[in-house]
Amino acid sequence: MIRITLIGSGNVAQHLIKAFTKSEAVEIVQVFSRKKEALLPLIDSDKIVSDYNALKESDLFIIAVSDNAISEVSSQIPFQNCLVAHTSGTASLDTLDSKNRRSVFYPLQTFSKNKAIDFSVIPMCLEAENPVDFDLLEKVARCISNAVFSISSEQRKALHVAAVFVNNFTNHLYQIGQEICSEHQVPFEVLKPLIQETAEKIKTLDPVDAQTGPAKRNDSNTIDAHLDYLTNENQKNIYKILTQSIQNNGKKL
Ligand SMILES: NC(=O)c1ccc[n+]([C@@H]2O[C@H](COP(=O)([O-])OP(=O)(O)OC[C@H]3O[C@@H](n4cnc5c(N)ncnc54)[C@H](OP(=O)(O)O)[C@@H]3O)[C@@H](O)[C@H]2O)c1
Repeated sequence: MIRITLIGSGNVAQHLIKAFTKSEAVEIVQVFSRKKEALLPLIDSDKIVSDYNALKESDLFIIAVSDNAISEVSSQIPFQNCLVAHTSGTASLDTLDSKNRRSVFYPLQTFSKNKAIDFSVIPMCLEAENPVDFDLLEKVARCISNAVFSISSEQRKALHVAAVFVNNFTNHLYQIGQEICSEHQVPFEVLKPLIQETAEKIKTLDPVDAQTGPAKRNDSNTIDAHLDYLTNENQKNIYKILTQSIQNNGKKL
């Protein structure tokens, strides 16, 4: 049985606790959290600690805290030469204190505490400083996911930037769509099958081939009408930038 210790009690930590609890190949030794209450529904209270000196030895320490806190938290682990991973898409291996063996255990998905998720399909992007540590990380990742990848820090940076475009920015566009609907008393609900189909389509088509709409067709009358209709300057600017980007597709700027 592989012994794991988690540090953090946020979105990722809570989903990892749930996923590891289902696996018989790993044991959660302890979870460090500054707020014990946050984890009480998920794990025995005697496994939750709020003092770094109360941490026991473990095969792997997974730090799932805000990116800004990773470095400080890693230096608080009261052991040397143990295997420590962070779960960030952006932070490099160097962010972790070099007194320990450094690694990355990055689940490429969007996590919110109160939204259940099927961990078995989440791509796990792993990196370690040596092959033995990578093997252990891989074993742990395979306990919770069927999609495990070796991803270098450089590749992870690219994936994370791409993820911001396909997830965060897309979600922000949903928010703008919802605002426009509510401003004009149309239910946002009506757009949900379109949102669903847009995501479904790229399972079989390249995004460039899946694109439709006035920008792709170069329907300038429709584009002008939409820009006239929008009253919010921020929405107008986003509309213009994205329209231009679709129209410039394939051309080097
Ligand atoms: N959410 C996602 O979709 C997602 C996906 C993949 C990877 N990640 C990565 O996973 C990590 C955690 O993200 P998250 O979304 O789970 O964050 P989160 O929900 O905001 O939780 C952040 C956690 O960090 C703890 N923390 C912050 N500063 C700390 C400090 N100085 N000392 C100790 N603990 C501290 C917080 O503790 P308190 O509650 O006590 O403040 C909280 O438990 C990040 O590296 C993030 O980049 C996130």
